[in-house]
Amino acid sequence: MNYLHEAKQLSQAVHNLQGRVAWQSPSNIALIKYWGKHGQQLPDNASVSFTLSKSVTKTEVTYNQADNNENRLEFYFDNARKPEFEQRINKYIENILPYLPFLKDLKLVIRSSNSFPHSAGIASSASSMSALALCLVDIEKQIFENHSSQNTLLQKASFLARIGSGSACRSLFGYAAVWGTSPLVKGSVDTMAVPIEHNIDPVFKTFHDAILVVDATPKSVSSTAGHELMLEHYYRHGRKLQVADNMEKMMHALASGDLDSFIQVVESEALSLHALMMSSEPAFMLLKPNTINIIQRIKAFRETTKLPCAFTLDAGPNIHLLYPHHIKSQIVEFIEQELQPLCFDNVWIDDAVGLGPVCW
Ligand code: PMV
Repeated sequence: MNYLHEAKQLSQAVHNLQGRVAWQSPSNIALIKYWGKHGQQLPDNASVSFTLSKSVTKTEVTYNQADNNENRLEFYFDNARKPEFEQRINKYIENILPYLPFLKDLKLVIRSSNSFPHSAGIASSASSMSALALCLVDIEKQIFENHSSQNTLLQKASFLARIGSGSACRSLFGYAAVWGTSPLVKGSVDTMAVPIEHNIDPVFKTFHDAILVVDATPKSVSSTAGHELMLEHYYRHGRKLQVADNMEKMMHALASGDLDSFIQVVESEALSLHALMMSSEPAFMLLKPNTINIIQRIKAFRETTKLPCAFTLDAGPNIHLLYPHHIKSQIVEFIEQELQPLCFDNVWIDDAVGLGPVCW
């Protein structure tokens, strides 16, 4: 879809310059990691993720016609006004104005909250940017009274969420999504994610993600800075080859329900992501002693019990323990006995693969 062309065509016929939209959107956890980007937030490699269900952002936007001189944006998080976020959202709106030009005539009041505690150290950019992008696309739908399908709305929201935070574009679709052109995934592109719900074995739709919070302090190096270090990375080319190989194994494992291969690739990707950080120039490390401690305990537990569980990491020290529903009671017991004492403030979040965003 050519969204720039659509924006030009839509600039007539404006209705209802006031209203309300509200969306809840989840976070996602990458199985194949996006690390490195170019252009307007385009990925250097394809990535795959599970969409989560409990770690969500709820966003409501009310809008009306702006008076020329008034402040056009108010942002509230947990009902408290946050001017520092207003600057960032204004910048984002400026970036997407070519695709949603009507926004320049509106005053927006945005109210947002997260289901997960602020202190849990969980990145909220995927859930928050996908919820906001959905609200903005929904405003377009209301203003122009267009009757586009839910699918069309989700695709455009994915395109726009990507411009705010790359990995956010995968949160728009239930169960699992692929972002980035891959010869293995029909319709995959760099500008938005595509759902792969129909290409995965049912066992993956039952998967849980136990988020083990190892450290909740702000990261010493942001994802933005980490992506940038990939531009001149010694292993840039090697990483591309590795992703092509891991994508092939992952898409096959997802389609066939091969849990052994799934575990092998998920863990290879998690460790490779952090190896890329540790071999950047300048090098940095986001892992903490208890990250390694938990990884070793998960490996030992798997070795002894032969239960199919895998650890992964995002760009931080927290562990995501992925496992199918039929072994939930054994995994929860393992977490409570061995892993929870290693978590910051004993915090872990019992999340699971989910259906994607909902309107509220
Ligand atoms: O979307 P960003 O810029 O926050 O980058 C996210 C990168 C990883 O979480 C490390 C990997 C991924 O694919 O989500």
